[in-house]
Parts: sequence; structure tokens; C-alpha cells
Amino acid sequence: MSEQHEQQHIHIDEYERLWLIGITIMLGVFFATLLAGAAIFGVRPTGQGGFVNPQQLDQTMFAEPGLRHMGGNRYEAVVLAQTWFFQPNVMTVPEGAEVTFYVTSRDVIHGFLIEHHNVNFEVIPGHIAEARTTFNEPGEYKMICSQYCGRAHQNMFASIIVEPAEDAAVAQVEGD
Ligand code: CUA
Repeated sequence: MSEQHEQQHIHIDEYERLWLIGITIMLGVFFATLLAGAAIFGVRPTGQGGFVNPQQLDQTMFAEPGLRHMGGNRYEAVVLAQTWFFQPNVMTVPEGAEVTFYVTSRDVIHGFLIEHHNVNFEVIPGHIAEARTTFNEPGEYKMICSQYCGRAHQNMFASIIVEPAEDAAVAQVEGD
């Protein structure tokens, strides 16, 4: 094979070369954006709350799903998803409560969506998904499985009840 022949074989058209350079630059920008997102804004896939063995949930925080008051207006909600319900089924918080949710699945992939709040993610067995939102408006909000998970998927939801601040204060005094 002569050198002449090889050069012809790898000859790339000038326009094609420009396209390749352009595409390479675009890919570079794309990956740089992803890396910047991860580094600067903490954008991470679900599982960001950590990992958990779905077979040994009774040795984790998911042994006792529920709401914990962390002081002030801060709450933590540990939620376990499984076919086809959430534990706990109902949670009540006062108006203005800032709730951090930790969610995992015991079995298949579920979804986790809170009506009228910017929370919607996949719940994957083995992963702890984490999200925080504030409940500023009293009312009842459904916590809904937003990912098809089988026969009774459409029945899979729970409730978050947000009590007006005055009612919550009264309830707290009565509870003391
Ligand atoms: Cu769980 Cu759909």
C-alpha cells in the first residue's frame, strides 16, 4: 500500500472536518455544563440522600416511617413506598413547615409527587431520594405515586394536611 493511497483513504472533506470540530465543541460544552451543574449547584441523580439495602430496611430510618419535628418550622419526613401505598399514610404539619423528605422503595420503582409543590422524583429501591419543600398554604395535599408500578398504581397516594398556624398552636397547647 503506497503512502499516496493511504492519504486518500483518510481524506476528510473540509466541510465534514468543520462539522466534526463543531460537534466536538458542542459535546465539550454539554459535558462542561453537566460537570458545572454537579459541582456548583449540587445537581445529582436520585439516590442523593444515600443508599440503603431494600432487604434490610428494618435496620434503617425506614424501620419507622413518619414525621419528626426538628425544631422551629423544620420537619423531617421518612417515607417508605411499596406496592401500593406509602407509609405514613397521613402527615399533619403546621402552615409554614419546611419539610425534608427521605424516600425509598421496598420493592419496585415508584414515583413521588406532591400536589402544588415542586416535588416529583423517582423512588428507586436501594436509593434514598431527598427533597425539601415548604408548605405555606393550609390545605390537604396529595402525595402521589407518579410512576406506573403495577395493577393498583392509581390507588397509591397519601396525604399531607397543612393546618392554619392558629389551629396548630392550639393543638400544641392541648398536647402539652
Ligand atoms: Cu407506586 Cu405507581
